[in-house]
Amino acid sequence: MEDNLPVNVREYQELAKKALPKMAYDYINGGAEDEHTLRENIAAYTRIILRPRVLVDVSKIDMSTTLLGYTMRSPIIVAPTGGHKLAHPEGEKATARAAASCNAIMVLSFSSSCKIEDVASSCNAIRFYQLYVYKNRNVSATLVRRAESCGFKALLLTVDTPMLGRREADIRNKMVFPRSGNLEGLMTIDDHDTTNGSQLERFARATLDPSLSWKDIEWLKSITSMPIFLKGIVTAEDARRAVEAGVAGVIVSNHGARQLDYAPATIAALEEVVRAVAGAVPVLVDGGIRRGTDVFKALALGARAVMVGRPVFFGLAARGEAGARHVIEMLNGELEVAMALCGCRSVGEITRSHVMTEGDRIR
Ligand code: FNR
Repeated sequence: MEDNLPVNVREYQELAKKALPKMAYDYINGGAEDEHTLRENIAAYTRIILRPRVLVDVSKIDMSTTLLGYTMRSPIIVAPTGGHKLAHPEGEKATARAAASCNAIMVLSFSSSCKIEDVASSCNAIRFYQLYVYKNRNVSATLVRRAESCGFKALLLTVDTPMLGRREADIRNKMVFPRSGNLEGLMTIDDHDTTNGSQLERFARATLDPSLSWKDIEWLKSITSMPIFLKGIVTAEDARRAVEAGVAGVIVSNHGARQLDYAPATIAALEEVVRAVAGAVPVLVDGGIRRGTDVFKALALGARAVMVGRPVFFGLAARGEAGARHVIEMLNGELEVAMALCGCRSVGEITRSHVMTEGDRIR
């Protein structure tokens, strides 16, 4: 064991900052425009206070939960984030092994630097696939089919990205994104022209289909039998529509505050979505989760599970596969302590009455 291992996610972030070139760190860490939502994603968690119950026998804590019938050791899922080779030469293969060793579901990004097939064969695990819909639908459909035939169990359609948000650090740095192995042979990529700022933004503008709409859920259902989650819902209106469209789940997400600045902090939008969905399908949340107590708060407000993006990426950048694994383990460990100290022996015992939000204090 190395000496002086980080003891929390923030320390991993510091290590990652030291380890990475500025362009890569800024890409991972940054948000859109004023980064108001980026700060709020984290700050909104700090305004939720826990209401612990004491004198409960907490000698056994069971963090396990289920999603789509799969049992997970804890409600923590690895969010889809693109370009892991920016952080480590093994890229998503290392992240996949880290997640698998913690029994955590990993969602592989459509913008993965490693090929779907290579990630699938890197280790045995339950994995989901995230989808962007390109103007050239054939590219997206092909990758969906490849993921399905590699044994991926669910599809997360990202719905908050009809075009890329303005990430000013990337524009300033003339960000160059690692080539996605998955697109080889599917499309030609001219990815080194940075004359207009971020190459990622230019590439996104050329590829992402801004006409994507509700009717395309039917198209997606016609090309896959994987259950479909919508990732990027933050209003009751869209949550109800998602249920009507027959999706398998809803993910309250603002893309880690990288898309629409001044979108609500996800933990602040969660309850509205949970109420609108009314138990019809599971609701997940991501954005700003840096502590086990954050996971606890999300579950108390009705999330079935959470996804973490940057923390795992920082772990990968700092210490490779071992770092990514350590980040997931630390969050699991923190959640276990939070549950014990709140008097909850299982995730089913975490209730709304274990938290107090700003809204509760005003009432
Ligand atoms: C992302 N996210 C993302 N989402 C997605 O649907 N497809 C993608 O390819 C990416 N890529 C990506 C790269 C990086 C560097 C980040 C930080 C995020 C968003 C991601 O899935 C998730 O919503 C957020 O990361 C959650 O917020 P936290 O945990 O990073 O605060």
